[in-house]
Amino acid sequence: MINKNFLWGTATASYQCEGGWNEGGRVPSLWDVYLHENNLENGNDASDHYHKYKEDIRLMKEGGHKAYRFSIAWPRIIINDKGEVNPEGVQFYHNIIDECLKNGIEPFVTLFHWDLPQYLEDKGGWAEREICDAYVEYAKVCFKEYGDKVTYWSTFNEPRYYVFSGYKIGNYPPGIDDTQKTIQASFYMMLANALTVGVFREMKMKGQIGIVHSYAPIFGVDDSLETKIAMRKADNYFNNWILDTAIKGEIPIDMLGMLNEKYDLSFMKEADFEAIKNNTVDFAGLNYYARALIKPYTGGESILRINNKGSEAKGSSKVVVKGWFEQVFDNPDSTYTEWDTEIYPQGLYHGIIRAYEKYKVPIFITENGVAFYEDVPNEKSVDDQGRIHFLNEHINAILNAIDDGAEVLGYFIWSTMDLYSWKNGHEKRYGLVGVDFENNFERKPKASYYWYKKVCESNGTAIERS
Ligand code: BG6
Repeated sequence: MINKNFLWGTATASYQCEGGWNEGGRVPSLWDVYLHENNLENGNDASDHYHKYKEDIRLMKEGGHKAYRFSIAWPRIIINDKGEVNPEGVQFYHNIIDECLKNGIEPFVTLFHWDLPQYLEDKGGWAEREICDAYVEYAKVCFKEYGDKVTYWSTFNEPRYYVFSGYKIGNYPPGIDDTQKTIQASFYMMLANALTVGVFREMKMKGQIGIVHSYAPIFGVDDSLETKIAMRKADNYFNNWILDTAIKGEIPIDMLGMLNEKYDLSFMKEADFEAIKNNTVDFAGLNYYARALIKPYTGGESILRINNKGSEAKGSSKVVVKGWFEQVFDNPDSTYTEWDTEIYPQGLYHGIIRAYEKYKVPIFITENGVAFYEDVPNEKSVDDQGRIHFLNEHINAILNAIDDGAEVLGYFIWSTMDLYSWKNGHEKRYGLVGVDFENNFERKPKASYYWYKKVCESNGTAIERS
């Protein structure tokens, strides 16, 4: 049975929606610098949420939302490597949180959704140990400021996606391909997660703390032994090193063994493993866009190419990890979005069941949604029936998992409004509310917004079940 306090909501991230990149004392993040220096479409203005947050929260309330998942921008809060706090930045999130509470909306706060202050990137960013201390200090400021108003905290959004894109694939800043640094950044992020959970407990914070993971439930092309071995390696690559580490306090030992054969793991200290063991999270935030369909690796070099922009995107994805596995992107029985993301709601059902059986902690689906090219400027309201169908099928999968015993306590659609989609800019639209980026960021609720209102207000009974 679905919980009567189930958190129906939508989600955003600071860099992707706020804009106001140089306002209110905010210092540059690594995204500002990387996008500006490379002349790429940026989030300087994003969806102008910095100025329009009241309107956005009003729309959430009118849309029946019970919760809003957003992130705090570290570069608004701590503005230099001496740890100086920026009162205007601190006040901005008090305003957002207060506005949510005034409107009966539960703030669901992420501490890090990728906008690392550039002054920390200049010191080596996530690939260096010092960043763990800086992150813990930043988290302490947030806990102290907002702790009596916020019940749900997440340390990180999608460590895997961030680290692999930045340090291995190289399509996100810092834009390099360096496996040793990928391993270091992954480890330090998970260590920072544990240290922060420790501080959360020491400070006797009310509420709960979790981590948000880009969940790719693993499926195999067949039942052969080779495929099963590839699936285990893929599960380590995609999921286990985040979820086992954060929830069970154990980094998968077979994965460490494989990495140890080729890379230097001596930077991992005994005290770090201890900290990871002793400080596990309260809940799992799972972002679900698609499963990963896996086949055995059959030679060749590693290739990691995903999330290409615009017309080059479709059919261009390839993920081969040498010696480990290959991901299938051209399954003839599947449909894919314009950006090569498979549409596979059953994967969410199986993913929830597996995660709940394995970890036995409450689950929030912290992101789920679909992007389309949409003509927001020329429409009064976009009639996005494709999105409604997609969301209905995925919520149906969640409700089936709940019926089968999984403890799922909330669901957040990505995204609240159209926003800046990292390297895909503004044309990749996910919002329930359209944003006319050319016309004063006018908000235009889409058909899906009105449909979701019924879902929230009926606590899910408006979903067509199968
Ligand atoms: C998740 C992120 O990976 O997916 C979001 O948490 C992101 O920040 C979303 O925007 C969709 O990805 P993309 O690349 O299509 O914007």
